[in-house]
Amino acid sequence: MTSVEVYRQLGFADADREDAEAYQADPVAVRGLVEQIRSSVGKLGSEPRFQMPEDPRDSIQAFLETVPDIRRFHAERGIPDDISWATLADLGQQIKVNRRTHGSYGLETHWWMTIHWVGQIYALGRLQYLLHQVTEERPVPGTETGEWIIGVHIPETGPLTDELVDDSLAQAREFFPRYFPEFPVQTANLWSWLLDPYLLDNLPQDSNMVRFGRRFTPYGTPNDSQDSAIFFTFRTHGIDQLDELPQDTRLQRLVVGRIKDGGTWQSAYGYLKL
Ligand SMILES: CC(C)(COP(=O)(O)OP(=O)(O)OC[C@H]1O[C@@H](n2cnc3c(N)ncnc32)[C@H](O)[C@@H]1OP(=O)(O)O)[C@@H](O)C(=O)NCCC(=O)NCCS
Repeated sequence: MTSVEVYRQLGFADADREDAEAYQADPVAVRGLVEQIRSSVGKLGSEPRFQMPEDPRDSIQAFLETVPDIRRFHAERGIPDDISWATLADLGQQIKVNRRTHGSYGLETHWWMTIHWVGQIYALGRLQYLLHQVTEERPVPGTETGEWIIGVHIPETGPLTDELVDDSLAQAREFFPRYFPEFPVQTANLWSWLLDPYLLDNLPQDSNMVRFGRRFTPYGTPNDSQDSAIFFTFRTHGIDQLDELPQDTRLQRLVVGRIKDGGTWQSAYGYLKL
């Protein structure tokens, strides 16, 4: 049984906690994910490829049941409690996003939470960082295959100001050598729609988003990713109802305008030295 206090630490809204408590989970599906998480906690390097339950609400149940496992791993590493909970609270945040996107309790992005629950990603201030190894298939300039680097992720938790980003990067420079000294990191990389060259050229140059994107040196070839711009801006999917999307901000107008002009949003790679 998950206590109200743990739900709170995990960032659950009240409505989501109530729905989680009322949900009649499929014990077999839950056990399947619980066992995969338990056998992978602390396995770092490449992202877990779990067989996820068909119903993401069973995945949520499995995450709840394994809170003590991932909390133990964090504690053994000496990771401070506030960082541990801030990291795991992405669960509640993702469930909130799901309710905004689909209007109900669930977790479309249940696969995303597996990296948190095996101990690969950490929330340090404004940003999250995924400790992983460079692979031969996806080289990163200035690094070698097998080298440990941190992948940057940007949760939807308010503005991306210079100060918050500076502070978060400063935390990352301290955190990884202190808590993961055997995996030295010198580079951070980002794969995101926020690095789409069109976005960087067409939003105001002094906006948080452009200033953030310009911190990264581009590499590789951008790939088409229309749905990322739609999903992260509007929390909906598809381009069938462009005329119904709000057009209040410059970003909203840019995203819709480009698609109406026949363009395609992309995701692109960038890196920075820590
Ligand atoms: C990335 C993010 C934090 C930037 O927010 P921010 O710091 O407020 O952005 P900026 O101040 O640079 O905004 C520039 C313009 O875009 C608008 N904008 C930014 N993010 C927006 C969003 N998610 N929805 C609608 N408009 C948005 C701003 O209102 C502003 O337009 P305005 O001048 O007309 O008001 C925000 O877009 C976000 O939370 N996105 C979802 C998470 C995400 O995309 N993660 C990366 C996944 S790969």
